[in-house]
Amino acid sequence: MKQLEGKRAFVTGGGGALGRASSVLFAREGAVVAVIDINRAAAEETVRLVSAVGGRAIAIEADIREEAQVELAVNQAVAEFGGLDTLFNNAGIMPHQDESFLDGDLELWHQISSINLDGTMLCSKHVVPHIVAAGGGAVVNMSSFLAVLGTTYPQDGYAASKGAIASLTRSMAVQLGSRGIRVNGLAPGPIMTAHVEQFFPDPAARAIRLERVPLGRFGQPEDAAGLACFLASDAASWLTGQVIVLDGGISSNYL
Ligand SMILES: NC(=O)c1ccc[n+]([C@@H]2O[C@H](COP(=O)([O-])OP(=O)(O)OC[C@H]3O[C@@H](n4cnc5c(N)ncnc54)[C@H](O)[C@@H]3O)[C@@H](O)[C@H]2O)c1
Repeated sequence: MKQLEGKRAFVTGGGGALGRASSVLFAREGAVVAVIDINRAAAEETVRLVSAVGGRAIAIEADIREEAQVELAVNQAVAEFGGLDTLFNNAGIMPHQDESFLDGDLELWHQISSINLDGTMLCSKHVVPHIVAAGGGAVVNMSSFLAVLGTTYPQDGYAASKGAIASLTRSMAVQLGSRGIRVNGLAPGPIMTAHVEQFFPDPAARAIRLERVPLGRFGQPEDAAGLACFLASDAASWLTGQVIVLDGGISSNYL
């Protein structure tokens, strides 16, 4: 039995590294997938990869900061699949310019928050009623291990947005439990995507960070996809309100 047999998923940021790996895995595990992204070409490439593994997906271009666009995207997915029971709020940004609050640029702070946090709220607002109509399902929110750890090289706007997503996850879980909807989050550590690679230009600094990972490697998009798939699946049927740190053991490692 496939983990997501018969599920209908709405995956935001599905054109990006983790969203793409998740969309492909969800499809492999039996779900049909609406791949939402502000970047249409990236979403279409994900759909192509889903088709290549024998799955079914549709690409929908939408900016999740814009409520009217979110509503249209949800309506399109529902019209295509006859409903929705799974939401993966994965889209997010982590700009390089985001550092300490001491040098904080309020415009950048709002930009990060509007995509990471407002986008999560808006997609939840418009998808959850369909999950209720489907008789229940699951929401998976993308947080970060920076929601629970401070760092010497801060990314304060990003960390704060991901902490808020963790809080929202717990609140949603309490509100939606009686309607058969589980809400959990994943909080990954560094997953080596092209974007994250740029944060580690110096091999020596990269090696120092790697030494802190008990499992001896940085994450891969498939690591996040695997946890998101589990959280969305019926195998997690008594799990809600949790934000699971996925970091190869970094957050357990004090020197
Ligand atoms: N890569 C990591 O190490 C890591 C670690 C922890 C958490 N995360 C989180 O995982 C998620 C995915 O990260 P990724 O590494 O795949 O990044 P990515 O940049 O590869 O993918 C993000 C996707 O979101 C899309 N997007 C951006 N703004 C959007 C908007 N307004 N509306 C719709 N789509 C939009 C982008 O076009 C992109 O395709 C993010 O929320 C990120 O914060 C990543």
